[in-house]
Amino acid sequence: MIRTLQFTGFIEPAKRGITKPLIIQARSPDGSRETIFLKTNAGYADRPQSAGIELFTTLVARRLGLTAPEPVLVEVPENAGRLVHDAPEHADLLSRSAGLNFGTLALGADWKVWLPDLSTRSFPAETVETVLAFDGLMQHTDREAENPNLMWKGHELAVLDHEKVFGYLTLAEGDAKPWRPFFQARPFARHVLAPAGRRLMSADFGKGMWERILEQELGGGFDECLQAAEAAFPAAKVDLARIRAYLTALVTDAGDFFDYLKVSLQP
Ligand SMILES: Nc1ncnc2c1ncn2[C@@H]1O[C@H](COP(=O)(O)OP(=O)(O)O)[C@@H](O)[C@H]1O
Ligand SMILES: [Mg+2]
Repeated sequence: MIRTLQFTGFIEPAKRGITKPLIIQARSPDGSRETIFLKTNAGYADRPQSAGIELFTTLVARRLGLTAPEPVLVEVPENAGRLVHDAPEHADLLSRSAGLNFGTLALGADWKVWLPDLSTRSFPAETVETVLAFDGLMQHTDREAENPNLMWKGHELAVLDHEKVFGYLTLAEGDAKPWRPFFQARPFARHVLAPAGRRLMSADFGKGMWERILEQELGGGFDECLQAAEAAFPAAKVDLARIRAYLTALVTDAGDFFDYLKVSLQP
């Protein structure tokens, strides 16, 4: 169930992000107050379908066992921009985003931003594999060093920012192995987890993730995520039929998919 929170105040602009997220305070239906990273509708600029895609993919990530901050909907009142001082661009985005917006619960202060020189050695093989397999399946191509969209705490990793996904579904639509041209373009050679992935390759790479995907598909999990995203953001336009066709092709040869994923990690 996705919570809808009421915007109650501005804290500060997020330090990163092209959509210029705002860190805000919001009240949940049970009265508790939460700190939220708010990605405004206006911040997505000319991509109005993005909020729905982010919600869909974040819900899927959590169902597949990845750590991703809880997605929420935030009701932004008219004129909320007036509460934002010293950040005119953010004030403007907020003013143009009255209504329901996408946000995530702020991870605690003990979660750290990924810096370019961070070693991947302390993260368990299973965690690295899960994130790489997820990114491969979702065609998530936005985790390179300058913008890793990952946070870490001890041996844990949290994934963020699921807007740039499924951008290559039409690349080889109808082919028996439509993932091949995607991976052949080497989308993950500069993925921040590629060095760790290259060290870890086992014959079973990705199998656990694949089993979880089938479980969700058969149990209606993807439909539920899609329904939630479309209910919140009618412009969502997540093409589940196309994603499903891709997954169906995968069923016939998941081994080939993961072989190509592995090759795409090579520098
Ligand atoms: N829930 C969260 N908890 C902590 N930090 C977050 C959270 N969401 C976003 N951030 C921080 O804000 C940055 C920008 O958010 P992101 O979703 O990546 O937006 P953009 O699409 O603009 O890149 C992230 O890289 C991360 O540093
Ligand atoms: Mg980002």
